[in-house]
Amino acid sequence: MTRLTPQDRLILALDVPTIEAARALVRQTETAISFFKIGHELLFGGGLELAQELKRQGSQVFLDMKLLDISNTVEKGTANVARLGVDLLTVHGHDRKTLDAAVKGRGSSPLKLLSVTVMTHLTAADLTEQGIAESPADLVVRRALMAQDAGFDGVIASGEEAARIRAATGSGFEIVTPGIRPAGEAKGDQARVMTPSAAIAAGATRLVVGRPITAAADPLAAAKAILAEIESVSGDGRG
Ligand code: C5P
Repeated sequence: MTRLTPQDRLILALDVPTIEAARALVRQTETAISFFKIGHELLFGGGLELAQELKRQGSQVFLDMKLLDISNTVEKGTANVARLGVDLLTVHGHDRKTLDAAVKGRGSSPLKLLSVTVMTHLTAADLTEQGIAESPADLVVRRALMAQDAGFDGVIASGEEAARIRAATGSGFEIVTPGIRPAGEAKGDQARVMTPSAAIAAGATRLVVGRPITAAADPLAAAKAILAEIESVSGDGRG
């Protein structure tokens, strides 16, 4: 992996209902942030149009589509996302057929694929309810290895599992970590949370941050504080 700067490592989740609200957030934070994530909320509020606008402005864009469907649909859907020219796409990483279909759909495009291992709002009790006896961490590591074997660039995983994933997958595999909460911040609906510095120290390559920035009284100041925290543990910019 090429060397990552603190700015490469911070991805702002544009979880707002309209592109006007998203544009306002981009304007407020763009001196600190150059990587933006568009997820389900904004995707259904003009998010694809904004994705292309952000790319034209030189930002990096992560489409958090969390694809999960039959192989043919995942393959063709991924191929169309690749044509949009965005940088990152998420696919649910529960089964090998879905992963293989996404890799096939990406073809030779530079689109990076990330497997969603176990959503960060789920606890061991939620897995038990689904009939899964493995701990969240064991399941995450097993799914990360399957994604790596399928040709994925990395995973989405909580900071709590980052060290185990790094040990299992070696260097160069992206570990993109949501559920980030600076010390003292409200968890909201997230269950497996970590501070920015702890997640980077555990092996996360990039952090996805939403409400700690979007709901802050001063989003730019909140973003800068998180960047400083990232820099304190990755000052040499090592990927
Ligand atoms: O507001 P908050 O910082 O909790 O936002 C986290 C973001 O990361 C949201 O956009 C959410 O959809 C996303 N995400 C997550 N857990 C995953 C995958 C994505 O929280 N496993």
